[in-house]
Amino acid sequence: MIKALILAGGKGAHLRPLALHIPKPVVPLANIPFLFFQIDRIKRAGITEIILSLSYQPRKIMDIFGDGTKFGVIIRYTHEELPRGTAGAFKAAENLIEDTTLVLNGDVLTDTDLEDVIRYHRTREAEVTIVAARVMNPTGYGLVVPDESGRVVRFTEKPAEDEVTGNTINAGIYVLERSMLGRIPAEGLQSFERDIFPAMLHDGTRFYAYLTRGYWQDIGSPRKYLEAHFGIISGRMKLPEYPQKSCPPNSWDKDQVSIDQVSILDGGCVIKPGVVIENSVLGEDCRVEEGALIRDSVIWSGTRIRAQARIERSILGRQCHIGEGAHLRPGTVLGDKSIVTDYSVI
Ligand code: GDD
Ligand code: MG
Repeated sequence: MIKALILAGGKGAHLRPLALHIPKPVVPLANIPFLFFQIDRIKRAGITEIILSLSYQPRKIMDIFGDGTKFGVIIRYTHEELPRGTAGAFKAAENLIEDTTLVLNGDVLTDTDLEDVIRYHRTREAEVTIVAARVMNPTGYGLVVPDESGRVVRFTEKPAEDEVTGNTINAGIYVLERSMLGRIPAEGLQSFERDIFPAMLHDGTRFYAYLTRGYWQDIGSPRKYLEAHFGIISGRMKLPEYPQKSCPPNSWDKDQVSIDQVSILDGGCVIKPGVVIENSVLGEDCRVEEGALIRDSVIWSGTRIRAQARIERSILGRQCHIGEGAHLRPGTVLGDKSIVTDYSVI
């Protein structure tokens, strides 16, 4: 039986200060813990057993997903005291891996049909199939160059500008045969992208790429995390159905506020007259006071926005306080409990 393994042990360093108190794999995306989007995709492929490979702040992830029952799957965990790298983490799960395994980076958002990826892998009798996506600039990713038959002929992690020979990159989703475990040393830091994949190019391994035509977005930096929200808000990426949580209703007088159809507000928000909210996501229990404007932004739970404040293309962590008339310029990212004083411009 195919199982899935999600690599969710990274520190999320590029998402700081947002991912300081909450590990990146469970940062809220449209108010849903991120990993749930992946669990949903995995379930749709008919896979019900999922291994979460953790290292950084494992408790916070385990507290949300437990044994998986609430989400209709079986979840098991592996935990590395010290991160062992992407391939090392797979190796650390060896005793839970019985067969072909679907491995996902814990920070990629996609609606790729994973069942189709597995079918592709099977028909090519591949040992490894990686999902590839097209991006404008591959330098921040793993560059994948397939030949006409789909066979990977080059893999370069984080290529320099002058090494970029195409625009297809590693989407961070692999189908791996169990035999792959034999290629990974039992000890030490091992990376699929830097050690294992490049080494496979020269030894005749059946290594294929599946080009996804679906939505794909990495969420690992504030700009990308915001972009993933716009993917959802615009309807390009559909929201999965998260098991109901109990939230009080939002409160506003609809004749006195302007909240567009696409914005997503979790429960318990209080929105005062004259507020404008456009193309944004607010977590639960936020309070937005008279005449404030929130546009193209993501605001986590419990944040208070005082009157006449303006927030554009920004991300605010939990329980922030934005003073009256303050102005947050596009690109602002504030960690939990940040305070912005009245009338300041940042
Ligand atoms: N358990 C465990 N242990 N997980 C890890 C470890 C580890 O030591 N190191 C990284 N991870 C997890 C991270 O949590 C993340 O979900 C995933 O592995 C990939 O690590 P990142 O640190 O996010 O890598 P990246 O974003 O720079 O690059 C990777 O993703 C790109 C696509 O977004 C590479 O796979 C690239 O080739 C790829 O293009
Ligand atoms: Mg990443």
